[in-house]
Amino acid sequence: MKRDWNNELETDVILQNQMIIADIFKRNMDFVNNNGRKRKYFIETYGCQMNEHDSEKLSAMLLQMGFEAGMLRDKADIIIFNTCCIRENAELKVYGNLGHMKSLKRKNPDLIIAVCGCMMQQAHIVDEIKNKYKHVDLVFGTHNVHNFPKLLMDVLKTPKNLIVEVWENEGKIIEGMPVDRKYITKAFVNIMYGCNNFCTYCVVPYVRGRERSRSVEAIVSEIETLVSRGTKEVTLLGQNVNSYGKTLEEKTDFADLLRRINDIDGLKRLRFMTSHPKDISKKLIDTMAECDKVCNQLHLPVQSGSNPVLKAMNRHYNVERYMEMINYAKSKIPNLAISTDLIIGFPSETEEDVEKTIELIKEVDYTTAFTFIYSVRKGTPAAEFDNQIPEDIKHKRFERVLKVLNDGIGIKMQSYMGKTLEVLVDDVNFKDDSVLTGRSTENITVNFKGDKSLIGEIVKVKITKPKQFSLYGEYIN
Ligand code: SAH
Ligand code: SF4
Ligand code: F3S
Repeated sequence: MKRDWNNELETDVILQNQMIIADIFKRNMDFVNNNGRKRKYFIETYGCQMNEHDSEKLSAMLLQMGFEAGMLRDKADIIIFNTCCIRENAELKVYGNLGHMKSLKRKNPDLIIAVCGCMMQQAHIVDEIKNKYKHVDLVFGTHNVHNFPKLLMDVLKTPKNLIVEVWENEGKIIEGMPVDRKYITKAFVNIMYGCNNFCTYCVVPYVRGRERSRSVEAIVSEIETLVSRGTKEVTLLGQNVNSYGKTLEEKTDFADLLRRINDIDGLKRLRFMTSHPKDISKKLIDTMAECDKVCNQLHLPVQSGSNPVLKAMNRHYNVERYMEMINYAKSKIPNLAISTDLIIGFPSETEEDVEKTIELIKEVDYTTAFTFIYSVRKGTPAAEFDNQIPEDIKHKRFERVLKVLNDGIGIKMQSYMGKTLEVLVDDVNFKDDSVLTGRSTENITVNFKGDKSLIGEIVKVKITKPKQFSLYGEYIN
């Protein structure tokens, strides 16, 4: 009989770690008997949904091991920093917080400090931790999250040593891991991992490995389970969802997957991110228009409105192609809300290039935009480009672009005045608990007065007061 090594490997890894989880659980129960309390954990997560999801897996394993979630970081028995390195400021935050841990560890030598996530996939950062942050107990990367129980056991057995395990390669997708989801009405579901695009500014392909898709079966089964537990809205996640399926044996693509998920009974809303403009197809836009659960929202990061800059970024599309797809999408999907990411101050960017970006912003008419100042990332090609833009010029350009964006977004928000939107209610407003907050199908935050019993429901709200980045309205019963 043909042996399926991959499946065997997956089952072995999970079984091995389940045994270790049971072992740590026993140790934790001894701790409860001796101390009259459970050991607490705290996970501090930086960066994107990929990291959020890994933290949900770590959290589920810790709960299985008999830890409980702590509310305060500095009172926890084990603290995990799940790190991001997309821009320099993300890294600086981590270093700052790790520095603060030194005095905590001095006061409580039993405290376990672990650092994982994207930053740890870079050798120079692991070296920095080894040299300057000697109070850290455990370092692991993005490819071996499933091995966390084994690594924690190593720490428990050799408490004075730093344990480092970072895998250079991604390995196979491990399905069937426990997940402690933060939210139930809205869920994020990974459909693929890694990235093959190597945009010249970006560190993700180096720290998240090569692109690999989960099987349709695994994705659908996860969403069916979520829906049976009360999930109404699912956001499909991948660095470039448009290339979904390329690594699978079965012949499928993202549009087919969207259609398959749209058929799941009980699911109300479907979103996805991120769509790379180089791979977005008319087939996908037609599918979005035809699938009733797919929201009228499209996140299509343009990064720059200038062709030479896009070329230097290795984005593989130009402004003309981007606008063609935007206009096609607008023509097919009524009331489409479009959002984007922008990088300002990329090497070689001229004042003229900035003007082109501004022109594009005005033409597209975005509902939201995430604008970033270019941050040099060690190991990426753009870090070596010799035409870097000075910091003060980057900041001035950033302010200029932001003003145009915000003016446009303000006008866009006004256009919702008097309209009735469908809102999935998330929670009470953090400032005033007589006000509820949720998201429209366009993914715009909508606040309105209403009873808490509406949380988790999809309701109609008539917009009476548009604000700069959100809408205020009245609940229509
Ligand atoms: N895969 C997604 C983006 C993931 S990273 C895509 O291609 O659209 C999220 C955003 O961070 C990017 O879209 C980009 O705008 C920004 N970003 C990535 N690297 C950056 C860097 N070195 N400096 C500034 N912003 C960066
Ligand atoms: Fe980074 Fe480009 Fe991959 Fe997005 S597509 S994660 S920007 S390399
Ligand atoms: Fe995400 Fe940051 Fe890693 S943006 S993939 S957590 S580098």
